[in-house]
Amino acid sequence: MPTVYNTIPRFTKQRPRCSSPPPLLRNHPLHNCGGGVLRKQDRGGEKCYSIPMEERILSGIRPSSRLHIGNYLGAIKQWIELQNLSRSFFMIADLHAITTPYDPATFPQAVKDVALDYLAAGLDHHKATLFVQSHIPEHVELAWLFSTITPVGELNRMTQYKEKGEGKTSANLGLLAYPVLMAADILIYKATGVPVGEDQVQHVELARVIARKFNAKHGATFPEPKAILSHGKRIMSLTEPTKKMSKSDGGGIQLDDSPEVIKKKVMKAVTGTKGGDGNPGVMNLFALLKEFSDATTYRQFMNAEETSTIKYSELKSQIAEDIARHFESFRTRRAELAGNNRYLEEVLSEGTKEARSVAKKTLEEVKKKMGLI
Ligand code: TYM
Repeated sequence: MPTVYNTIPRFTKQRPRCSSPPPLLRNHPLHNCGGGVLRKQDRGGEKCYSIPMEERILSGIRPSSRLHIGNYLGAIKQWIELQNLSRSFFMIADLHAITTPYDPATFPQAVKDVALDYLAAGLDHHKATLFVQSHIPEHVELAWLFSTITPVGELNRMTQYKEKGEGKTSANLGLLAYPVLMAADILIYKATGVPVGEDQVQHVELARVIARKFNAKHGATFPEPKAILSHGKRIMSLTEPTKKMSKSDGGGIQLDDSPEVIKKKVMKAVTGTKGGDGNPGVMNLFALLKEFSDATTYRQFMNAEETSTIKYSELKSQIAEDIARHFESFRTRRAELAGNNRYLEEVLSEGTKEARSVAKKTLEEVKKKMGLI
């Protein structure tokens, strides 16, 4: 984590609304694309900086399989920073995960694995609300209400639906309605910032459309959320570098892979025959080098690439070593947490209580505006 963040006053759920000015926050890069900057307010002559109500963060990950470094760089890494800055909600999107084939027998463990990954990676339940999506039934109710104002045409043109469902006999309604539930996940907390990888941007855009439509019909209720993207917004598969790294991808590195496994996977990375800008495998390796290695090492390999003196085996060894080192404390912490079921249950049950109290309020407001209560 860049040192600059260490000097930022830590956000906690108990943080008072007014605190001394946190200058670094105002220029924080994430805030420039995350739905507005912190506003300076003048309350009763006292200059104070507060995180406005709409400065809220929500995101989630499906427990479809073990998390990989694409999930980490595109999503979790940003979450760890954002939990210090804003009121944040991070969930395990189990209801989205069941729109594609899954095994009910192993599913509870898959949910638990994601929760462990969240905590081991550095999400902190004192700072952010951590919960399982299906434990907050209000999401589904709001999704139904939103479905009555969502044009089917918009859903049909979603890239993810086209890839996973369209035209297939296995396509289910849940897969088509997937972004409507996502909109409910986001808007039920009135989130403005949604830190995700590039593949989810289209869904966040639809949440904006839904918010706009609802507000136009029933009066100002929801902010229009924006996707927050990181440098690692699209990490590619190591074995098929024209495709993004995914949970079903053999070319993906899991967060708790051992150094040996990481090395094996990285050494198999496809680089093609020629280097340079047009080579997606090489570009992907440099993207990983930038994320996990120091600036000097990055520059050295970049120079070697530019002068065509590079040895890709050396580049891969360096990346494997640096990824393994980066996740060393993650592996230790995860192993510790895995033995403490009770702690995990407590964290998630506290998160459920917190999330539910916010979700209930929003749902009630929506139902009143829609003439249902
Ligand atoms: P999911 O589980 O597919 O992915 C979780 C997060 O990881 C990002 N990601 C990547 N980023 C960079 N490079 C990659 N190769 C890569 N692969 C995945 C994704 O963009 C995502 O941010 N629908 C969501 C889960 C969800 C959600 C939400 C997200 C449900 N409700 C509300 C935000 C807000 C999904 O399937 O993500």
